[in-house]
Amino acid sequence: MNTPMLETRALCKSFGGLHVTREVNLRLMAGDKVGLIGPNGAGKTTLINLITGVLAPSAGTVLLGGEDVSGLSQAQRVKRGLVRTFQITQLAPTLPVHLQVEMAIHERQASSGRLWKPLRAYPEVQAEAMTILSCLQLQGLAARPPMALAYGEQRLVEIALAMALRPRVLLLDEPMAGVPPGERQVVLGALASLPTDLAILMIEHDMDLVFNFARRMMVLADGAVLAEGSPEHIRKHPAVRTAYLGEEA
Ligand SMILES: Nc1ncnc2c1ncn2[C@@H]1O[C@H](COP(=O)(O)OP(=O)(O)O)[C@@H](O)[C@H]1O
Ligand SMILES: [Mg+2]
Repeated sequence: MNTPMLETRALCKSFGGLHVTREVNLRLMAGDKVGLIGPNGAGKTTLINLITGVLAPSAGTVLLGGEDVSGLSQAQRVKRGLVRTFQITQLAPTLPVHLQVEMAIHERQASSGRLWKPLRAYPEVQAEAMTILSCLQLQGLAARPPMALAYGEQRLVEIALAMALRPRVLLLDEPMAGVPPGERQVVLGALASLPTDLAILMIEHDMDLVFNFARRMMVLADGAVLAEGSPEHIRKHPAVRTAYLGEEA
């Protein structure tokens, strides 16, 4: 049997008497595209924080490629290929995009213990940055600072920075948050062009987007997994419709 890229086993989190994550079991294989949905307060962001090591679980384990990483720091998990993007932009507004991607590549190389190679490394790093930007159709904007870009383009730069860390698992926390409808297609196209073997977990409120993107859906309600399965299965699921989709109908 294949080892999952990311797995959680009976993950639990309580804040005092408030149970925010209840025995969540999650498995992402290489190439999986999973959508995570649930009403506000369901515990989606908390789950991401537990997986990435921002929060320590009250019980349960997180495994990356079969290795228990529950005791590791955020940085140690990033080094093992677990990368997230944030709901709120983390970009330096005035620094040209290609430089930010190059810095992320340098960061990755430093963290993997590679010795600093001052001059010869630069062309390699510049070339890799341009390859990443080209994959996301950003090559024409490489010299511009984020403040000169449309909001949807800025979200793509954040994905470029995540890709510079060479993720095996990518966690996207609401990649469409704040993106105007006219720019969503560009972001969706870029997400579709990411490497096929990358495992992606996407939290998203835009139902059309997440149902189109994900091959598998997971629904959280009140901290627990209410349902999981194919997008078609989830669309029809009575409890999901009542707990969640029904709100929008
Ligand atoms: N640090 C915290 N202390 C206490 N309660 C928290 C904390 N973080 C989140 N919660 C509570 O956990 C629940 C789930 O929150 P969250 O994970 O942000 O939900 P979602 O992302 O699905 O909207 C909410 O009731 C929230 O108030
Ligand atoms: Mg949230």
